[in-house]
Amino acid sequence: MKHLLALGDLDRDELSDLVSLVATFEEISQRSIPKVPALRGRTVAMLFYENSTRTRLSFETAAKRLSADTMNFSVGASSVSKGESLRDTVHTIDALGADAIVVRHASAGVPKQLTRWTDVSIINAGDGWHAHPTQALLDIYSMQSRLGELEGRRVGIVGDIKHSRVARSNVAALSTLGAEVVLVAPPTLLPPAVERWPVTISHDLDAVIDSFDVVYLLRMQSERQQANVVPSLREYRHDYGLTAQRAERLRDEVLVMHPGPMNRGVEIDDGPASAANDLITAQVTNGVAARMAVLFMMLGSGSEMVAEVAVS
Ligand code: CP
Repeated sequence: MKHLLALGDLDRDELSDLVSLVATFEEISQRSIPKVPALRGRTVAMLFYENSTRTRLSFETAAKRLSADTMNFSVGASSVSKGESLRDTVHTIDALGADAIVVRHASAGVPKQLTRWTDVSIINAGDGWHAHPTQALLDIYSMQSRLGELEGRRVGIVGDIKHSRVARSNVAALSTLGAEVVLVAPPTLLPPAVERWPVTISHDLDAVIDSFDVVYLLRMQSERQQANVVPSLREYRHDYGLTAQRAERLRDEVLVMHPGPMNRGVEIDDGPASAANDLITAQVTNGVAARMAVLFMMLGSGSEMVAEVAVS
């Protein structure tokens, strides 16, 4: 695999292989010295045009645990502020010797565009509303760690689907793996042409929440929304939030997940967020192993090397 732009580009076997590779790197991450020499001599550049805590730090940690060198780029402290274009910035990073560029950008399609401008491997760390493949990879891995195979499992994705690259990537990956996905949102927070997605739709969380194996709550993405997509955040919470009353109805084994950052008191109340803390924290932790797997898949060389890494 040369680039990772969207999980929908992978077939079921390729996705399953990638999820299995995450398990190898989770085991390495739990060692007393969680570091292997797999990518020694390789360089990974972080090109983040949008803010990030989890994705950026976990990619950096992942690269370091694989013994790769990292190049960090911060828009505000770069020559972008002097007017340098994205294309020239990418050529500069290429000339500095990067083997992979991890890119986050507010515009959908930027990672794909980068693959036309450079031979360096491109990894999408979130592009506009389009895709966030490594988030979905860590989510799938976190679900499988608790539920086993996802075939036939019912996953409810609740909230701001329209503006969510996380929702799009999870829908693609979950449907590839045979899970049933139910999108729960008001009509104003559903994307155009959602009827063509491999999902069912509900506008009534209370009518469907009891049927879910996973309740996946999305952040209200105020920065991407136009005005008045919901009457008020208070009403949104009342209709679509995981309140304490709704959380009480969930069976003990139901997984409550959130990609972070959370808006407590909007899509999830404090009590349910604390109760789900172990899994939501595990999602963040698994993000390192997921990104190690992706970097290794891009820059490592072959199945023999997986075995070598696992015992090194
Ligand atoms: N989930 C996620 O992408 O978080 P960050 O924006 O902090 O990277």
